Amino acid sequence: MCPRKSIRIKIPKNNMHTMKIIGFVSSPRDGNTKNLTEHALDAAKAAGAETQLIHIGKMNISPCKACDACKKTGTCIIEDDFQEAEKSLSKADGIIFASPVYFGTVSAQMKAFMDRTRTLRRKSILKDKVGGAIAVGASRNGGQETTIRQIHNFYLIQEMIVVSDTKTAHYGGTGVGGAPDDASKDEFGIETAKNLGTHVAELTKKLIH
Ligand SMILES: Cc1cc2nc3c(=O)[nH]c(=O)nc-3n(C[C@H](O)[C@H](O)[C@H](O)COP(=O)(O)O)c2cc1C
Repeated sequence: MCPRKSIRIKIPKNNMHTMKIIGFVSSPRDGNTKNLTEHALDAAKAAGAETQLIHIGKMNISPCKACDACKKTGTCIIEDDFQEAEKSLSKADGIIFASPVYFGTVSAQMKAFMDRTRTLRRKSILKDKVGGAIAVGASRNGGQETTIRQIHNFYLIQEMIVVSDTKTAHYGGTGVGGAPDDASKDEFGIETAKNLGTHVAELTKKLIH
């Protein structure tokens, strides 16, 4: 009888998937929403994430026209910048949607982006991804929470997992500012954004590793 050769399976030392957290900013300008999102992503990076900021407010993303073509083909037939943003959204492990407060809710740019993701919902692409929200308004109580609520509603309908900024603002990153650089002086707002970024990263890490 010939001696049996022992088989060794080589397990790579670092076979962990690096978590990717992407912030989607829906202001049409470089201002407060972008500023707080950068703070949130820096905190996520410090917690071990690979991060990216996508400025959807500056992209050409048209609203859904309810043609229902996506129901038949599984893809949206409007050809614009949505396809590029959709690819990033699909590959993210954790997501931060950030919007300025416009009349107590998300900007039109954010709403158009959300509506165009109908195909992702049909395929459950975003299911079980972690989501946090950021909102910046000019008034102290100008609708930051109602805006965040809209983003949370989107996450729930996409079967995602909603996270807070923990014990600062409770609902997510909340900033106050009117002029584009006001949020850079809003220390409490910055703290809420950082806590949100850390929380999104920490939960994502638990889920994917
Ligand atoms: C069309 C429009 C509607 C707005 N509605 C509100 C509002 O309801 N509540 C509020 O606090 N601020 C409101 N603002 C102010 C913006 O939320 C605020 O300037 C914010 O800092 C903008 O963020 P950004 O610098 O990222 O663009 C509104 C601004 C615009 C242009």
